[in-house]
Amino acid sequence: MRISLLIRREPFNQILIDTLIHYIGSQQPEKFQISFSPLISIFSFRVFNYAWTGNHYLNCYINTGSKAKLLDVLVKEYSHSQSKIKKPLQWLFVHLAVTHLGRIFLSQNILLIKPTLEILKDTVILGGNHRLRLLEPNKKKTLIVLKSGFRNLWIKNEIDARTSFKISFAPKILNIDDENTWFSEEYCLGIPVNRLSNNEGEKLSWSALEQLYQEFIIPFQKEVELGTWLISSKERILDQFSAGFVNNPPAKLSENLTQLLDDLSAWLSDTSFETIKVSNSHGDFQYANILKLADAEIKVIDWESTDTRWTGYDCLTLMLKARTKKGIVDFDTFTSIVSSNINLHSFLDLLPTDIIQIKHQYFLYCIEELGYQVLNTCEPAFYEPGKGLLEFIISMKVQLNSLKKY
Ligand SMILES: Nc1ncnc2c1ncn2[C@@H]1O[C@H](COP(=O)(O)OP(=O)(O)O)[C@@H](O)[C@H]1O
Ligand SMILES: [Mg+2]
Repeated sequence: MRISLLIRREPFNQILIDTLIHYIGSQQPEKFQISFSPLISIFSFRVFNYAWTGNHYLNCYINTGSKAKLLDVLVKEYSHSQSKIKKPLQWLFVHLAVTHLGRIFLSQNILLIKPTLEILKDTVILGGNHRLRLLEPNKKKTLIVLKSGFRNLWIKNEIDARTSFKISFAPKILNIDDENTWFSEEYCLGIPVNRLSNNEGEKLSWSALEQLYQEFIIPFQKEVELGTWLISSKERILDQFSAGFVNNPPAKLSENLTQLLDDLSAWLSDTSFETIKVSNSHGDFQYANILKLADAEIKVIDWESTDTRWTGYDCLTLMLKARTKKGIVDFDTFTSIVSSNINLHSFLDLLPTDIIQIKHQYFLYCIEELGYQVLNTCEPAFYEPGKGLLEFIISMKVQLNSLKKY
């Protein structure tokens, strides 16, 4: 997620400083200071080596003295746009923004890190949803650091999954902090497939999906009793909801969530299905998290939402393009996508004409998606934990009510 969006959601500037102070302090003994500079000191940049320019649209901070080559990964990513109108303008902006002058005049912030530190040499700092990324292209390394004030699960989930299961199509893990506040992985110069043409993006994401199911999901799937799964899912979602607030969660939101979970459980208990399949899941399996490397190799990144889930979840998140939509996908769209795509059936055991089974899958998808939304919107570090969740819950209620016609 770009800094331009992060600053609206959370006190990102302070989080950036606190995270860097904590990480750098834990790695080296040298004393240092980090602060934001008023833009007045714009002319002092070239004299002092300790100025870092922040471009919120390019999502990065880079030292004014560093070579533009360090930003190759961002140039690749942001010069691509699927919109024909935006493409030339975007290309121009990105190529200007990475030059030495462009970095200064197109920056929104200047960070001062004094003195120049060896640990940050040739490093680019990227904003991220729950973690910062410190890219070190020359050392072929990228460091993932938990943002200050964010829950440890955003690093721990990923470390646990990636050390317990061999995943050949994720960047290799290099080092892991004992306290689970950072880890490093191999640097991958690639383009997220949402930046490619629709056709190419779809083809590559299918291939990533196949690998994901073959290596990470199918071998570990198990059949569990539906009733037991419903009880534990409800408990897990409510626990995650409460943990997302510093103070008590708003009562109205709490009531709506509990009621929706009860409704979903009642609908599912009413069906004739007695068991469901669960396994590992990536949790945020979207185009933006699938990178195409130079040799057309694929790497899946951003495993922070990994958890045990119903086995259809990753596949549907990708197919429904769920992460680019507001609210829950409507049942008619869900039906047309699952029943028109023959390749899906091997993952989902779907009978394309069986509306009862599709409906059952829709409920399972709704529960998992609700869990994902709760985890992502209810974060104690946000200005307003839970923002957007009520609208999501309402969108799901509207869909479930409309289902009565079946
Ligand atoms: N291993 C890597 N090597 C180089 N760049 C990476 C790597 N992983 C991610 N990136 C870059 O970081 C960006 C954001 O990463 P991601 O973990 O998906 O963050 P977010 O949590 O904000 O979605 C990607 O779009 C990509 O440009
Ligand atoms: Mg991502």
